[in-house]
Amino acid sequence: MVDNTQEDVTCTLDIVSHSSAQTQRLGMRLGDLLSGGELLLLEGQLGSGKTTFTQGLAMGMGISELVSSPTFTLLKEYAGQMLTQTGQSPRRGPALYHFDLYRLDDPEEILDLGFEDYFYDGSGVCVVEWADKAAELWSDGHLSIRLKAMSETKRSLLLTATGPRYCELLRQFQKNTYATASS
Ligand SMILES: Nc1ncnc2c1ncn2[C@@H]1O[C@H](COP(=O)(O)OP(=O)(O)OP(=O)(O)O)[C@@H](O)[C@H]1O
Ligand SMILES: [Mg+2]
Repeated sequence: MVDNTQEDVTCTLDIVSHSSAQTQRLGMRLGDLLSGGELLLLEGQLGSGKTTFTQGLAMGMGISELVSSPTFTLLKEYAGQMLTQTGQSPRRGPALYHFDLYRLDDPEEILDLGFEDYFYDGSGVCVVEWADKAAELWSDGHLSIRLKAMSETKRSLLLTATGPRYCELLRQFQKNTYATASS
């Protein structure tokens, strides 16, 4: 699973989802592991399941508001929720910043709108649909999730972690989902 080429460590995980409920569950398991400051890049054609995955992710982060596609706004923010875990004092979970770059014409717009501050603010979780529209913008540390429709209800998910922090996140995610690693 680990490809150790000097400092640019990448790790990958292949998963097949057989329903939108399963894709949401996968998102939930990942959301459960996020502590804030993560950058998640979602790629895949229209209807491949990016928003469906993000809905689960929000649930895993304890956000009860239903996540919808932010297509007409580029960004939708969801406040972090109070989380209670047995034996621990309540804490506020990270906010979710949900981007959809489908309508983005020029990556420069992101900079003009001041969105960069979100990507590197270190406290919220950034999820970016159509991240490939601004490929040159992303820092080395991120988790990319590429979704592909294989049939009406079947989706392949290829998760690629770049950087040690994200490899560790992916390892933990894999452990929690009992999925098998590709290579
Ligand atoms: N295994 C599956 N995983 C995810 N979605 C699925 C699956 N099977 C069927 N679907 C359906 O596919 C659609 C996925 O839509 P969704 O809005 O999540 O895609 P998207 O990638 O965000 O599209 P867009 O690029 O338009 O934002 C939903 O209608 C969902 O119910
Ligand atoms: Mg979407």
